[in-house]
Amino acid sequence: MSKYRSHILVCVGTGCQSQESNDLIEQLKHELKSRGYEEEIQVVKTGCFGFCEKGPIIKILPEDVFYIEVKPSDAKEIVEEHIVKGRRVERLLYEEPNIQKRLEEQHDIPFYKKQIRIALRNCGLINPEDIREYIAVDGYLALGKALTEMKQEEVIKLVKDSGLRGRGGGGFSTGYKWELTYNNKNDLKFIICNADEGDPGAFMDRSILEGDPHSVLEAMAIGAYAIGAEKGYVYIRAEYPLAIHRLKIAIEQARKYGFLGEGVFGTKFNFDIELKYGAGAFVCGEETALLNSIEGGRGEPNAKPPFPAESGLWNRPTCVNNVETFANVPPILLNGPEWFNKIGTEKSRGTKVFALAGKVNNVGLIEVPMGIKMREVIFDIGGGIRDGKKFKAVQTGGPSGGCIPEELLDTAIDFESLKEIGSMMGSGGMIVMDEDDCMVNIAKFYLEFTEEESCGKCTPCRIGNRRLHEILIKITEGKGTKEDLEDLKRLGEMIKISSLCGLGQSSPNPVLSTLKYFYNEYEQHVFNKHCPAGVCTALKKYEIMSDNCKGCTLCKKVCPVECIEGNTKEAHKIDPEKCIKCGACFEACKFNAIAK
Ligand SMILES: Cc1cc2nc3c(=O)[nH]c(=O)nc-3n(C[C@H](O)[C@H](O)[C@H](O)COP(=O)(O)O)c2cc1C
Ligand code: SF4
Ligand code: SF4
Ligand code: SF4
Ligand code: FES
Repeated sequence: MSKYRSHILVCVGTGCQSQESNDLIEQLKHELKSRGYEEEIQVVKTGCFGFCEKGPIIKILPEDVFYIEVKPSDAKEIVEEHIVKGRRVERLLYEEPNIQKRLEEQHDIPFYKKQIRIALRNCGLINPEDIREYIAVDGYLALGKALTEMKQEEVIKLVKDSGLRGRGGGGFSTGYKWELTYNNKNDLKFIICNADEGDPGAFMDRSILEGDPHSVLEAMAIGAYAIGAEKGYVYIRAEYPLAIHRLKIAIEQARKYGFLGEGVFGTKFNFDIELKYGAGAFVCGEETALLNSIEGGRGEPNAKPPFPAESGLWNRPTCVNNVETFANVPPILLNGPEWFNKIGTEKSRGTKVFALAGKVNNVGLIEVPMGIKMREVIFDIGGGIRDGKKFKAVQTGGPSGGCIPEELLDTAIDFESLKEIGSMMGSGGMIVMDEDDCMVNIAKFYLEFTEEESCGKCTPCRIGNRRLHEILIKITEGKGTKEDLEDLKRLGEMIKISSLCGLGQSSPNPVLSTLKYFYNEYEQHVFNKHCPAGVCTALKKYEIMSDNCKGCTLCKKVCPVECIEGNTKEAHKIDPEKCIKCGACFEACKFNAIAK
């Protein structure tokens, strides 16, 4: 790598690839070649930079210039101006809206300022398809250290001391889980990477596997050595073709370099990894369902105990860890537990990766220290709410998480604090909602998801979630009663305590948290037959406010059922009996004269 004077890092994560970043690479290479620079400037394909909202992203090293929204047609100007003349392409630099200033370097951009990248450390930095680049950033050094300098118990102790907790949702101590599996003696054990990632909108694990697959393979080998396993599986959803492709390349390369296979690092330790594909059922991310699925059975959970560490895959001791959990392991081994302990809070060490989505300005993948306030994430990193709208709620924890209101935005992000306020860390989904979102409708949306994804094995989840969903439909259609509100709470609490697995145990969270924090919205739907956000179609009532109406006739022209009357330059009127609530007039009016 050292022979090159500059490196142009180009994101080829799924988001940027869908915006022609592969074509951009071809164009950059073509422009460099036509000027005889191909030996001097290297174009490097990297994983996701996180700022997908502004993709495709490129970064030029060593000057550390960060360009956003780069199109293939920009390649010529970048090479001519930046590479040849040493001048910045100003229009492609990020412009900070508050100060209207263009910023050159990644770490100056507010989106990155409060982030600490441990699990994502190599995403956007190295070519995930070239093992030499991983080795160049100390890749496989931690595995070498574990195998040649440490006993199994020492590796386990170190991971325990670091305080690393599972990033897949449960937050269980990783070191302790490794110890349990280690203590269960057996001639055959397994280690499994859970890359099922079924939460709608989540893409943390996918990005790690696309951007830095070796870090996960290395950590699996370290874990396998610690617990005494010789075989590992990555259970990955089949809808992740790029991650699968890069994992396959990485496994092949690691075998070639002696980091996987017989006698890893020239020691007596044998370990290899196989991929297993999930068909996309959310419940298959639950560890016992995942094990059943790998065995070829139905993807439904089992009662615990026994835990996988005692009796897992084919009844052998098995350690299941999440992708992000694994990605944290190599730096912990290299830098020591004290280093990791300094980041985060007392009970939640380190960082957490989130897929920040919804109504924020900066949608993307972020990694923040535990303990950071929700408000900082949404307003400093996320850049606040889109279109100047008002914040209403943030949902963490995926489909089974809770909705957190404005007054709790100063809650620290850690496992315990989020649970205390009725939400949860989950695997890292974070969806922001604004004044236009109806919280009853949001609860209904999540219940629809969990009802669909319930495996049906136990009654509270199978029937209970269906009842919850039915009541929510009733309320959003304006047919809800006071008793329905009581039933929602009672039933939700009952499902939580009586369901067999985590899906049912957490599925009522969206309902219970919205009942707790947005009860007035439920009351409006039930008692006033009104949806304050104007989302629930059956409760919408389109009305023209005569004071604002200019009589421009536009609404009348677009109404499909001709139920608007009025003369030019006079206030118009809607016939509520005929109105089919299509919203066309509302969209058409340029004078804000129509209320819903
Ligand atoms: C319905 C359901 C879905 C889950 N989906 C995932 C998933 O997609 N990825 C994951 O790592 N863990 C998922 N989990 C958590 C796993 O059961 C398990 O706790 C985790 O893989 C353990 O790894 P960790 O200790 O590193 O977090 C899910 C749990 C439930 C109840
Ligand atoms: S809680 Fe739901 S998903 Fe879990 S076992 Fe019961 S029915 Fe299946
Ligand atoms: S479009 Fe708006 S301003 Fe024009 S007539 Fe209709 S309500 Fe009035
Ligand atoms: S909502 Fe649709 S049907 Fe009703 S008045 Fe407006 S355009 Fe006509
Ligand atoms: S996919 Fe390119 S920045 Fe996320």
